[in-house]
Amino acid sequence: MLQGKKIVLGITGSIAAYKSCLIIRQLIKKGAEVQVVITPAGKEFITPITLSALTHKPVISEFFSQRDGTWNSHVDIGLWADAMLIAPATASTIGKMANGIADNMLITTYLSMKAPVFVAPAMDLDMYAHPSTQKNLQTLLSYGNHIIEPGTGFLASTLEGKGRMEEPENIVAQLESFFAKGETMRGKKVLITAGPTYEKIDPVRFIGNYSSGKMGFALAEECASRGAEVEFVCGPVSSSMKTQNPRIHRIDVESAKQMYAVCVEKYPQMDSAILCAAVADFTPDNVADQKIKRTGDDMIIRLTPNPDIAASLGKMKKEGQQLVGFALETNDEESNAQGKLKRKNFDFIVLNSLNDKGAGFRTDTNKITIITAESKEEFPLKSKADVAKDIVNKLVALQTCNK
Ligand code: CTP
Repeated sequence: MLQGKKIVLGITGSIAAYKSCLIIRQLIKKGAEVQVVITPAGKEFITPITLSALTHKPVISEFFSQRDGTWNSHVDIGLWADAMLIAPATASTIGKMANGIADNMLITTYLSMKAPVFVAPAMDLDMYAHPSTQKNLQTLLSYGNHIIEPGTGFLASTLEGKGRMEEPENIVAQLESFFAKGETMRGKKVLITAGPTYEKIDPVRFIGNYSSGKMGFALAEECASRGAEVEFVCGPVSSSMKTQNPRIHRIDVESAKQMYAVCVEKYPQMDSAILCAAVADFTPDNVADQKIKRTGDDMIIRLTPNPDIAASLGKMKKEGQQLVGFALETNDEESNAQGKLKRKNFDFIVLNSLNDKGAGFRTDTNKITIITAESKEEFPLKSKADVAKDIVNKLVALQTCNK
């Protein structure tokens, strides 16, 4: 995947700079060409001689070459590269990148870069957790840069182990997978709903359903790995469910009404939405302030309808936007799905039947049929990650048709 790829490796002043040698070795072993651009502080941690011996190219650090005074053109490097990787990236460099402070060769190269940029932060936890660093990382994401870090994405709630630079082999693996996939959704914004909703009865009870959220998480990762920015509206799922890709912006909600409010606010700014959540159709009329006590023989909870998120977005849908829905059915699957497709103004609907073994709730696999107004396509049983690929392929095909 990296054969013949031209990579600009930016190195900054962090103790993790020694790991750049390992990154270079692996990139070169996989057939890439590497041009190092190093900051003045970076040179305090690793010598240009070591780096140029590994890359077989002079290391660039000054605007003018020290040997003969020729000008190092950051514009040419920006055009030459297939990707720029900044590893390790200090808080200072991340701040300069976010704010365009071009006081060294690395930042001018970054600002001229035409290729995708990958950033592997390296700093201590306090610096990483500071709102300034977090804001700058957000800004880099909004520029379309890729943040590479260990574990879950930096928007995850836990900061454990954060700031440490990702291991060289994982950094190289991310570059490889980037080149393998192609960013078919780069620049696109997708809203994805996932998981169940909980409708409160009293402070300790709710009406919920068996949805695990796995299909929605797989869709979010798939879209993000193709370059999309994902607004990921997530109902109450297990705390072990975490998103990996920093391009996934997770918004946790509990009830259908909360999910509805986020979705109608976000959808106008989106290119598409995939509504994978198992939304409760009804909610208790009254939520008791205190735990309901056992009294009498019967207990009646009166329910009122929830807003239909899908139908509302279907009404809001503008030319060029797509809307994808799900239908989990137990009987008359196709005709039910067809009905929902029309009623909710979906571009296509993903049907899974509870009658298929391995499909539906709480499984790691799914078996789907994609239904449009004109066509029906059945897929075999696959992992949810692979099912997500099929669904996203269909969405990308629609987006390409709409261009
Ligand atoms: N959906 C939604 N908001 C709701 C209910 C459903 O966005 N309040 C979405 C789901 O995320 C899914 C699609 O609509 O993409 C179909 O969901 P489903 O519950 O099967 O549809 P309903 O219209 O509730 O139909 P049914 O009569 O089968 O319950």
